[in-house]
Amino acid sequence: MKRLLVSIFALMAASVVIAQPVMSYEQAEVKANEILKSLTLEEKLMMTQGHNRFFFPGVPEKGLPYIYTTDASMGVKNKQRLHNDAEIKLAERTTQFPAFIMLAATFNPDLAYKYGHAVGEEARMAGAGVILGPGMNIYRNARCGRNFEYLGEDPHLAASIIYDYVTGMQSTGTLACAKHFLCNQTEFYRRRSNSIVDERAIMEIYTPAFKAAIDAGVATVMTAYNQLNGEWTGQSKYVITDLLRGTLGFKGMVMSDWNSIYDWKDVILSGQNLDMPGENAFYIKKKPADLVAEGVVTESDIDNMIRPTIATCIRWGLYDRYNSGNQYDYSLEAKLPAHLDVSYQTAAEGTVLLRNNGILPLATSQKILVVGKWLDKVPHGGGAARVTGYDHKTLKMVLSESFGANVTYAAKPTADMLKKADVVLCVTGTFDSESTERPFEMERKDEALVRLAVESNPNTIVLVHSGSAINMTAWADKCAALLYAWYPGQNGLQAVRDIIIGKVNPSGKLPMTIERDFADSPAVNSVPVGFDLNKAKGNPNEKAFHPWTYDVHYDESILVGYRWYEKKNIKTLFPFGYGLSYTTFALDKAKVLSKGKVKVLNDEKPLKVAIEVTNTGNMAGAEVVQLYVAEKKPTVLRPNKELKSIRKVVVEPGKKVVVTFEVDKNMCAFWCDKSHKWTTNAGEYEVLIGTSSADIAAVLPFVVE
Ligand code: BGC
Repeated sequence: MKRLLVSIFALMAASVVIAQPVMSYEQAEVKANEILKSLTLEEKLMMTQGHNRFFFPGVPEKGLPYIYTTDASMGVKNKQRLHNDAEIKLAERTTQFPAFIMLAATFNPDLAYKYGHAVGEEARMAGAGVILGPGMNIYRNARCGRNFEYLGEDPHLAASIIYDYVTGMQSTGTLACAKHFLCNQTEFYRRRSNSIVDERAIMEIYTPAFKAAIDAGVATVMTAYNQLNGEWTGQSKYVITDLLRGTLGFKGMVMSDWNSIYDWKDVILSGQNLDMPGENAFYIKKKPADLVAEGVVTESDIDNMIRPTIATCIRWGLYDRYNSGNQYDYSLEAKLPAHLDVSYQTAAEGTVLLRNNGILPLATSQKILVVGKWLDKVPHGGGAARVTGYDHKTLKMVLSESFGANVTYAAKPTADMLKKADVVLCVTGTFDSESTERPFEMERKDEALVRLAVESNPNTIVLVHSGSAINMTAWADKCAALLYAWYPGQNGLQAVRDIIIGKVNPSGKLPMTIERDFADSPAVNSVPVGFDLNKAKGNPNEKAFHPWTYDVHYDESILVGYRWYEKKNIKTLFPFGYGLSYTTFALDKAKVLSKGKVKVLNDEKPLKVAIEVTNTGNMAGAEVVQLYVAEKKPTVLRPNKELKSIRKVVVEPGKKVVVTFEVDKNMCAFWCDKSHKWTTNAGEYEVLIGTSSADIAAVLPFVVE
């Protein structure tokens, strides 16, 4: 535990390089206009499409170098195509960090800053000017193969993590890319889906994380593969110009997701700035050059399209960096060990203990039998977010280090072996990947092994690796302990091991609800009737042009995640925000601190509230205090409560910490689809403070005037 605390403080104290944009966006636009005057029409047309798959276009002879961009959400996917793991040279190493959903499970924005900063430094080392992440699509549907790249179901949690992540990354001079804009919640035939979403859900659920990225100054945004309300996001004026730049106030450059535009006229007039990767756009009949020649669009439309790309690169000094040959900063290699600390800490704080009958932590003198998957391989997700990493610490390596001869392994044990073991650790889960929607149920053989283990031995601990929720209803209450450890990164299993042996006290919380049955989910109809998920994997998703689309109706509107299950009174397996510790915490003495008319919130005065968090157990630990707000008599559909603030606090045994929050009028607002504005009704509200969405310790009424 001491190690956990020491590393929390070490991380807080770590020095950071602060790189700011070299000028305002407006100043950069003026400079971009000068450059535009020097370009021929042909050169301008070249600037509309990407170069060599992963480069922004350029005109090197006119001082505009090609800028290297790479993925993304779990670290830097550097040169993977050129080297296998063993060949990766020191200067090409990049850390395989824990999956983004594990970062969300830490509920710790300070750690998100460190994570973003570390990834930004590794991008500088790899010569990448722009990282194609963070991903921030809200988790609506447990079967989405990319949930591991995102930050869970709650807009406030996602926004809190994103703000600090983007700030951390861009402070290194690496540009972030907020993706995928917008309403990209399924990987099922991902280039064919049309998300039908109402305005309130767009504003209250799907855009707050993007808004947080914009507030943090994110330099670039990527549109998505899907249609939103009938328009491809990569060529929709509503999506790019009206919503992203208008309502949300984005200033910077927008790029398409890879091969996701279909009509150049719409693209040019939508506010889109760059077709990526560009060269493969064989399915588009009319090219920009044809459209200019035919007078369908003008040269000034092309200028408008490419100006933000040039202005953004100027604003952040990317052209200067590349032109002076300074894009590779190998001095940052020295930071790799510090990045491993961030990666370890994310896994330590993001592993969620869902059940424990007291079996955990284990003494290393105990004999354990380890069974199941990934004993010799660090589990990871697939697709663009997959980072190779280096120096992987597998479960076998880390457990043998601590348990020595007391640990034995059997990937496929017999019932007899399971019965005879003192303690069984059963490792299971799913491999989730981009462009694949996967069933809620685990593969049959994996499910069978977990059931056999828990039925054969009451001392079975289940360790799950997955990017999303899985069906655990048949056995979750039969195992002795249950740890959810996502995709933990190249050294994350060391953290998982340290939790198992009590060197680290778990403090992760679920960033999403785990349902008892997928039929309970609002997204149950996300796959068209008649399609079999098991047969839909792979190639059909990847065809570049599709003559048909299918609709995904977001009929639940704003009732995503716990908002849905609470409103519909559906019992879940594990609620949002839930996670256990080896110690216990008591939350009490909640009070309103504001003076005067204390319980009234008006424009000038936020409400100040406080609660005491006491560690009532024997071990130091961290608790996430969660503040929700509820409107008592709403005039429109509102969730029972909405998360508005999180605070992670470390408390020593027997000690207490007072946590204070400020609640302002914005936290009480809903998006009014009549006035198209954030609106706060006057009237009665409640602040609810707890340690999960289902464990509320205090309810404080207040009034908005
Ligand atoms: C993914 C993006 C990714 C891009 C480049 C696409 O298939 O959807 O998230 O950034 O590829 O790798």
